[in-house]
Amino acid sequence: MKSSSLYKPDKTIVLVGLMGAGKTCVGRRLAKIYQIPFADADDEIVKAAGCSIEDIFELYGEKEFRSGEKKVIRRLLDDEPHVLATGGGAFIDEETREIIARRGISVWLSADLDTLVNRTGRRGGRPLLNDVDTRATLASLMEKRYPIYRLADIIVDTSDDLADRTTERVVDAIESSLGQGLDKKANRQ
Ligand code: S3P
Repeated sequence: MKSSSLYKPDKTIVLVGLMGAGKTCVGRRLAKIYQIPFADADDEIVKAAGCSIEDIFELYGEKEFRSGEKKVIRRLLDDEPHVLATGGGAFIDEETREIIARRGISVWLSADLDTLVNRTGRRGGRPLLNDVDTRATLASLMEKRYPIYRLADIIVDTSDDLADRTTERVVDAIESSLGQGLDKKANRQ
């Protein structure tokens, strides 16, 4: 795997995509390559709320969670450029998407259904997948959300690939977009 890159992002790289797309795994690797910090929006929400994502959903409901998520992402985008992994629903919220569009470079990690089902099976803690048919729920979220994720600045298909290979493909995609005008966005204030 690439160990570093000469390019220093001047905007935060915001990873978006469905649960199981590999945002956290790839995000940590990407931050290492660019030698910039990594943040996970879900972890920051948990810190701010003082309880787990599951508890937030159960005690306050999804609407409150989304509002906290928006505040946390807005605050994180005020920080120095870093790599930010967002929860799967963040980019779907129009206001959150606008904040990301203004202040960050969005990268959608897309994946096929089998990949998402396999990867989400490896860890719990996702209230939207509790007590439901995971495959059917992810399929329905794909249908609703993929047209919106498609609005991201950069799209990388992650299916089949291990995190190291996906990370390399993200680096290549970011660097090749720089030559295609994303640098103008990256330098915009
Ligand atoms: C959600 C995804 C989760 C977390 C919450 C809601 C979603 O994050 O934010 O459970 O709406 O897709 P990950 O995508 O990191 O699992």
